Amino acid sequence: MQTDGTNIAGKVVVITGASSGLGEATARYLAARGATVVLGARRAERLQTLADEITQAGSKAFARVTDVTDAEQVQTLVDAAIEKYGRIDVILNNAGVMPHSPLERRKIDDWNRTIDINIKGVLYGIAAALPHMQRQKSGHIINVSSVAGHRVGPGSAVYAATKTAVRVISEGLRQEVKPWNIRTTIISPGAVATELPNSITEADVARGIGQFYEQYAIPADSFARAVAFAIGQPEDVDINEILFRPTRQEL
Ligand SMILES: NC(=O)c1ccc[n+]([C@@H]2O[C@H](COP(=O)([O-])OP(=O)(O)OC[C@H]3O[C@@H](n4cnc5c(N)ncnc54)[C@H](OP(=O)(O)O)[C@@H]3O)[C@@H](O)[C@H]2O)c1
Repeated sequence: MQTDGTNIAGKVVVITGASSGLGEATARYLAARGATVVLGARRAERLQTLADEITQAGSKAFARVTDVTDAEQVQTLVDAAIEKYGRIDVILNNAGVMPHSPLERRKIDDWNRTIDINIKGVLYGIAAALPHMQRQKSGHIINVSSVAGHRVGPGSAVYAATKTAVRVISEGLRQEVKPWNIRTTIISPGAVATELPNSITEADVARGIGQFYEQYAIPADSFARAVAFAIGQPEDVDINEILFRPTRQEL
C-alpha cells in the first residue's frame, strides 16, 4: 500500500457506479493509497469481485447493490458506510449513462433514464451524505460532470443538459455548505476508455461514438488521479473543478 503523504489514507469514500469504468478505477486507486471504499452499483457480481480484490490486496472495501434512481437505496449505501466505518469522508457521485441520439428520434425512455441517473442520482447522493457531513463538520462531495457540461453538440443535448445540471447543482452546493467545512469538486472528463458508450441505444450513433473513443480515449486512471488530487489536498484547500481531456481530443 502506498501512503505518499497526501490526505487520502484512512478516509472513507463512497463511490456510486463503482462496478466499471471510472468508478472501478478510482476505487482501486484510492484503496491502494489507504482509503476505505464503499462501493455501489447495480451489477452485484462485478461489485463484489472488486470489493474482494481490494480486500485481498490489504485495504478495506464494502459493496452494496445500489440503484441511484432510488433515493432510499442511495441512503442505505451511505448509511452502511457510517455503520461499518463510523464516518463518511467523501462521496463520489459517479454513476451515469450517455445514450446519445438526435432529439428528432424521440428516445423518451433514454431521456428519462439519463435524467434519472445523471441528475437525480447525484441529488440523491448529496441528500444521503449531507446530514452526516454536517454532523461531522467535514466531508467532500465530488460530482462527475463532463466536457459535455461545458459544450453541447448534435446528438448530445440531453446528456449535455444533465452534465450542465451537475455543474450548476455542485456550484450551488459549494456556496451552501461553507458553515460545515464541506468541500465540493466537479470533475469533467473528456473521452476516457470505459463501458460508457455501451449505454447508447441507436446503432449508428454507437458506431460513431465507438470510433471516436477508439481514436481518442485515454485510460481510466487519468480520472482516478484527478479524484486523488482533489481528495489529497489539505483540508483547507477546496479544488472546485477539474476539466481534463485526452491531449489529442480537439472538441
Ligand atoms: N468515459 C468517459 O469518456 C466519460 C466522460 C465524461 C464523463 N463521464 C462520466 O463518468 C461517469 C462514469 O461513467 P464511465 O465512463 O465509468 O462509464 P461505465 O463504465 O459505463 O460506468 C458507469 C457506472 O455507472 C453505473 N450505473 C449506471 N446506471 C446506474 C444506476 N441506475 N444505479 C447505479 N449505478 C448505475 C454502472 O453500474 P451498473 O450498470 O452495474 O449499475 C457503472 O458502474 C458517468 O457519470 C459518465 O457520464 C465519462
